[in-house]
Amino acid sequence: MKTETRKNAELTKKYKDFLFPSVITYYQEPLPLVSGKGCRVMDAEGGEYLDFFGGILTVSIAHCHEKITKRTAEQLKKLQHVSTLYPTKPAADLAEKLASICPGGLRRSFFTNSGTEADEMAVMTAQHATGNQEIICLRHSYSGRSAMAMNMTAHSPWRISKTLMPGIKHAHAAYCYRCPFKLSYPSCDLACAKDVEELIQTETCGKVAAFLAEPVMGVGGFVVPPKDYFKVVTDIVHKYGGLFIADEVQTGWGRTGGKWFGIEHFGVNPDIMTSAKGMANGLPIGWTITTDKIAESLKGLTISTFGGNPVSCAAAHATIDAIEEEGLLQKTEKLGHILRGHLLEFQKSFPCIGDVRGMGLMAGVELVLDRKTKAPDAKSVVKIFEETRKEGLLIGKGGLYGNILRISPPMGISLAELEEGIKKLRKAFERL
Ligand SMILES: Cc1ncc(COP(=O)(O)O)c(C=O)c1O
Repeated sequence: MKTETRKNAELTKKYKDFLFPSVITYYQEPLPLVSGKGCRVMDAEGGEYLDFFGGILTVSIAHCHEKITKRTAEQLKKLQHVSTLYPTKPAADLAEKLASICPGGLRRSFFTNSGTEADEMAVMTAQHATGNQEIICLRHSYSGRSAMAMNMTAHSPWRISKTLMPGIKHAHAAYCYRCPFKLSYPSCDLACAKDVEELIQTETCGKVAAFLAEPVMGVGGFVVPPKDYFKVVTDIVHKYGGLFIADEVQTGWGRTGGKWFGIEHFGVNPDIMTSAKGMANGLPIGWTITTDKIAESLKGLTISTFGGNPVSCAAAHATIDAIEEEGLLQKTEKLGHILRGHLLEFQKSFPCIGDVRGMGLMAGVELVLDRKTKAPDAKSVVKIFEETRKEGLLIGKGGLYGNILRISPPMGISLAELEEGIKKLRKAFERL
């Protein structure tokens, strides 16, 4: 119910007048948001929306989650900031907790403020540990907005830095719906994974520092590789002296269902792992974790002014505790199956849906003009956005061609809310 008029337009105007024009916003008329509770957010005029994107998978559990907010506010009143120059209890406690939930001997944490910094830290650490420089990333991947992260990112629209960096090579992604080798799994024999060896032999000096990859590509459109993909690539990368960095910025914290981290579904242990986004349910934090041995190889001075901030660390610890207390790993797995089941039903009714994929509460719906040619259909995505907005539902999008809907509600969502959002999405498709 709209209680006030023009507030949205006024707020948007100020935002657009004083921020860089390159700060992109969703929707033809941007949607300013002023409050949130649970899985719902409100605009400046009292309009209510069911949130199926969670601020880019960052409100991992719920908006203004009671317990997390309480613990965060308590810390805010106690100690707000000291920098990494002083040990604090929230940072020490969080690091200890993280060591207890991470796979494969990962136990040394470094805290920063964003996924970009987390990936930068991981790459620098891998370079120190191996003595090598070159990095292998994946086409369609996203690593952030520093110069190096943009060079690692493999989406031309997100590579706006004028600083070009050598030593970063992009392997073909395991994007089965658009297989770069025009093959099908499993008869492809994982050609994309095996090609990494030739990439290293032909495009690098023959020694690499790391392979950095998202277990499920986020910005790329929730692309899920075959189960045995990471084992094959990791073995190749190790053979050429490199480490495997799993970028869990989107896939961490139970998002993929059943496990804390996305990579745990693929039967390999990363040498280094990074995360950010949903780690503190919306407070800024970045995180890099590795083994004792690899961490010790990083020589020299390093600080992060805001890294390990007590307030962010308290929020992250409270988020992890809430995930455990509310059984969200299992719940996300279950709701993810239900969500994908509905979307697969949609696919039967709407010919523009070329592919439905995902893991846990990370579901991608790829829209195409023609199922045979798979020509991307970005225009329908724009229409679906406007129609879902009218229905009071927020969703996300992604993919190189902007033709993939990304559905990733906060993991605290109830089954009833999930079903409600699905109905709204169906109505939007029916109006296409
Ligand atoms: C997989 C992945 N890595 C890194 C980043 C960069 O994170 P941030 O925007 O917090 O710098 C993102 C952001 O979307 C991401 O999706």
